[in-house]
Amino acid sequence: MKLKTIHKKIANCKLCELSITRNVTVPGEGSPNSKIFLVGEAPGKNEDKTGKPFCGSAGKILTEMLNHIGISREDVFITSILKCRPPKNRLPKKSEANLCINTHLIPQMDSIKPDVIVLMGLSAIKHVFDKVEIKKEHGRFRQKDGRNYFLTYHPAAVLYRRKLMDVIKADFEKLLQ
Ligand code: URA
Repeated sequence: MKLKTIHKKIANCKLCELSITRNVTVPGEGSPNSKIFLVGEAPGKNEDKTGKPFCGSAGKILTEMLNHIGISREDVFITSILKCRPPKNRLPKKSEANLCINTHLIPQMDSIKPDVIVLMGLSAIKHVFDKVEIKKEHGRFRQKDGRNYFLTYHPAAVLYRRKLMDVIKADFEKLLQ
């Protein structure tokens, strides 16, 4: 399916209760030919206003991480597990995540066919892989259903644990290799 078609479906999606409280959907953005496909948890307040992924403080850190390895935001595709903001930024429910992954995220991945899908943060990782200890497995590749994944921390983690900045930068360096 074409990315444009998938994004139209997302804009009209009413499959879960988040469609009632959202302002706008946040399908993701970037090139349909991206080799790197980044996945966060869910849109926050800024994203729910603008419809653009990672446009707040976490987004600034993400841009910095990408620039650190010589890549710009336009070179990659950025999205989240959920396409709608959960009220008060609560964690995605398992049912919402599964529905959104199967209906929207997997079609996006299969349309873009990136070399690698970067799962950022345990909240994104746990809906794809069981029993992951992020402390042990960040900076590593994993395969599932013919797709190549790379695991790292969520950029927002840096906001409350400054030391993670260098850890995530080192992960991104591995990703580039
Ligand atoms: N955090 C996410 O996981 N996704 C966004 O789009 C913004 C912040």
